[in-house]
Formats: sequence, structure tokens, C-alpha cells
Amino acid sequence: MLRTIKGQSFAGKRVILRCDLNVPIKDGQITDDGRIRASLPTIKLLVEQGASVVICSHLGRPEGAPEAKYSLAPVAERLEQLLGQPVVFSEETVGPKAKAAVKMLASGGVALLENLRFNPGEASKDSAERSAFAAELAELGDVLVSDGFGVVHRKQASVYELAQQLPSYAGLLISTELDILTRLTDSPERPYAVVLGGSKVSDKLGVIGHLLPKVDKLLIGGGMVFTVLAALGHKVGKSLLEADQIETVRGFLAQAKELGVEVILPTDIVVASGFSPDADYEVVPANAIESSRFGADGMGLDIGPESGRVFAIAVSESKTVFWNGPMGVFEFPNFAGGTKSVAEALLKVSGLGVVGGGDSAAAVRALGFDESEFGHISTGGGASLEYLEGKTLPGLEVLND
Ligand code: 3PG
Ligand code: MG
Repeated sequence: MLRTIKGQSFAGKRVILRCDLNVPIKDGQITDDGRIRASLPTIKLLVEQGASVVICSHLGRPEGAPEAKYSLAPVAERLEQLLGQPVVFSEETVGPKAKAAVKMLASGGVALLENLRFNPGEASKDSAERSAFAAELAELGDVLVSDGFGVVHRKQASVYELAQQLPSYAGLLISTELDILTRLTDSPERPYAVVLGGSKVSDKLGVIGHLLPKVDKLLIGGGMVFTVLAALGHKVGKSLLEADQIETVRGFLAQAKELGVEVILPTDIVVASGFSPDADYEVVPANAIESSRFGADGMGLDIGPESGRVFAIAVSESKTVFWNGPMGVFEFPNFAGGTKSVAEALLKVSGLGVVGGGDSAAAVRALGFDESEFGHISTGGGASLEYLEGKTLPGLEVLND
């Protein structure tokens, strides 16, 4: 059983709150604050209870040393606006300065520590190094509330070892994410459709293998679909292709057939002259990608409009849908159509429609959809996929009694 903060009181305690505030930042500006907003319920609850809240997070993948572009300083500012109260920012994650910053906190006060990954111990492969860094973090609080769902698949000091060193509980975000994921794995309402996209089929093999026996429909788009089309014997021009996965793909197509899972693939593709927002493009049948005027140089950048309609019907008629990975290069408006169709259809699902984290979550926000209208938008791309693959997630395992 997962230990959670429900029913606990943290009044008067100094709480280290591990969040996943790993948000995209461009030129110092946060371009999507979804993960910060998703962290607010737990922060507010702790503040209301009268805890002093010491928040920590990673951002990006610095390699164990400070790098200005990965500073959490812009996140502290945004957090302050969203919370409507001051957030003390500690420019050092641990050590005397961090201690001084957290000591100043009154009950109900909030501090944010600088990026955990500026310290080599956080993501070290050596468990002794991780434990030593976790011990430094542990000096900053009495208890740990672990709420960084997006990072629970990482065995890192603040996610794993710290939870062993302090009394530790899962926060509200982790609880919510798990409630949803459980609904996707234990007796989902039918029909159940899984929509997969994104660039690499190799990233999705685990989840395909684990979910095939549970789902009614598997829809595939995005860059990964070209490996599937190649596995069916079609030429794909310069589209993304993982040639070494073709045999594996044939294997899961055969398995899907045996299990009676309907595999829905695009029937048309938007083929472009190259990878750029203003590339020329043409819609061609999915089994004749090289028939476009770009010939063998054509590059598939989106599923076509007919496919978009077919995918939308399959999605909106389902009672449970899990979607991970964009259908095309949604960052370029000319190639965002397929992703838009799936997102719109997901809004019509009468049961549970889940947007996996990562790129698909970024896509629905970037395309201007109202987040609150979706059944759930996960904050963890890799984490939710690994959960659905049936893997043990270190950051959850350590919170179990
Ligand atoms: C993510 O964005 O995937 C999470 O924040 C985890 O980050 P990581 O993949 O760099 O460990
Ligand atoms: Mg990741």
C-alpha cells in the first residue's frame, strides 16, 4: 500500500516536497507551466496545514554541475505568481546557504531549492553517492512528501534514497496520476483504444506488448508509423524509419491479429519536401508515400486528413482512451492536423480520455486546447509509459509499505 499524505498533518513540520518542475524554458521564459500548476494542490495543502515547505526539483539534464540555462530561478518566480505568496529561492541545493534559507521559513512559508541535478550525487549511478547526497538533503527537513510523478521512474537521490532516509509520503499529484493509471489497467470500460505516436517505435514496444492483451483498438500515427508501414512492405521515402525494428513490429502486428485487436493505421500521409515549417507538401496514400512529387525524397510529417477523420471516430466512440505521442510534427502548423483531430476526438470520449505526458501534453497546450476539458493530462510521459508497461517504478516502490 502506498503511503500518502491523506489523513496526515504536517503542521509545524519542515517538509521537503519533491516535485517535477521540469518545464520547458525558452530564452528564460517558461513556455508551458503545466507541471507547476499540477504541483499546486499539494503545496497549498501543506501551506494551509502550517508546514514550512522546502520544494526541490530537477530541470533538464545538467551533468552534476550548475549551468545557468537549467536554473530553477524562473520557476520560483512563476510559482510565486501562481501561489500568490513569496517563494524564497535558494541558489544552492544543499549546504549552508540552503540551510540558512530554509531556517528563515515561517510556518506556511515556501522555499524552492536550486536544481537538484546541479549536484553529481542526485543522478549518480553509484548508490553510495546518491545516499550521501540524499543525507545532505535530509538535513533540510523533517519529512519528505514525494510528488514528482514525472520522475518516479528514475532511481535518483531525491526520488529514492531520500525517501528511505526520512518519513516519506506520496503527495496528491502522485495519487491522482495513479488513480487514473489504475483505471487504464484494471477493468477499463470498453471499447478501449490506445493511440500511439511520437518518433520512435522502439520507445513504445514495451507498452504495446503490455497493453495489447487489454485493448480493443490500437491506433498508430506519428513518426513511428513509418516503421509500421515499412513492416507492411511499403516504401516510406525519407520518413523516420527504425529499420532494426521492422521484424519486431511484424511480431506485434501478428500478435494483435491473434488477440483480435483492431490495428488502425493511417490511410493517407502528409508528405513534405523536407523537415521545415514552410516545406512544400502533398497528401498521398499511406501505401504510396513515394508517389508524391518529391518521390523518394518525400518525408512524411503528419497523418493525412482522411486518417484524421478515421482516428477521430475510433477515439470518440471508445469509452477508455490512452493517447501518447503526437500524430505529426504539431510544432509546424501545416503538419499539426492529425494531432489536432485526435485531441478534439479525445474531448468527446464519454468515459475516460487520458493524454499521456511529454509531447502529447505539450501538444494539447500548444494547440490551444482547454486542459480542463480532458479526462486527465498526465505530467509524466516516461513515467506513465513505464507504469503501463508493468515496470516497477523506484520512486513509487519506495513509498510502499
Ligand atoms: C521528464 O520530463 O521526462 C521528467 O521530468 C524526467 O526527466 P528525465 O527524463 O530527464 O529524467
Ligand atoms: Mg524524460
